[in-house]
Amino acid sequence: MKVRSLAGLKAATMACRECPIGEYATQSVIGEGSAKARLMLVGEQPGDQEDLQGHPFVGPAGKLLDRALEQVGIARTDVFVSNAVKHFKFELRGKRRIHKTPTQREAAACHHWLEDEIALVKPAALVALGSTAARSLMGRAVPVMAERGKWLEREDGRKVLVTLHPSALLRVPPEDRDEAFAAFTADLAKARKILKP
Ligand code: URA
Repeated sequence: MKVRSLAGLKAATMACRECPIGEYATQSVIGEGSAKARLMLVGEQPGDQEDLQGHPFVGPAGKLLDRALEQVGIARTDVFVSNAVKHFKFELRGKRRIHKTPTQREAAACHHWLEDEIALVKPAALVALGSTAARSLMGRAVPVMAERGKWLEREDGRKVLVTLHPSALLRVPPEDRDEAFAAFTADLAKARKILKP
């Protein structure tokens, strides 16, 4: 079924059981921001906090993303921030819910929801945050470290800037963190030109 609005997308993804993840998540989390954004940022999947709160990028990775966006002068309200996969996949360890990377099959099952979102928002360009997003947006595996900071082109003509996922930066050893953050903001600064040519 083709969705006609973001509210319709939320309802449809809430009910989605095309892969097993939806059964265990609290709720689906779709993209948010400007519904007419020229730039869409796409992550992997909601994390623990996103799953509980129902909003994308509100946990630790989201805080880092917010800091990077602020630094390069991109207002989060000017862009649309979403994920390749709409439900949180996790493994229970005691009481903790540990993030698990979605399989390619799960990401592929969710792909059409992301395309619906793109069709509704109609961004001029997208930023792929990490390899799950890059694969979903490009329809092929993208070597993120080799391609980061480059503009790729989708079959629909939309440009996709590939960069790291902000949670990868959270895992960088403290002594390398400033450099990694600077490289991340340098990538994002390229995308800012889409908003302020
Ligand atoms: N990581 C993601 O990829 N997306 C979120 O919304 C949060 C963390």
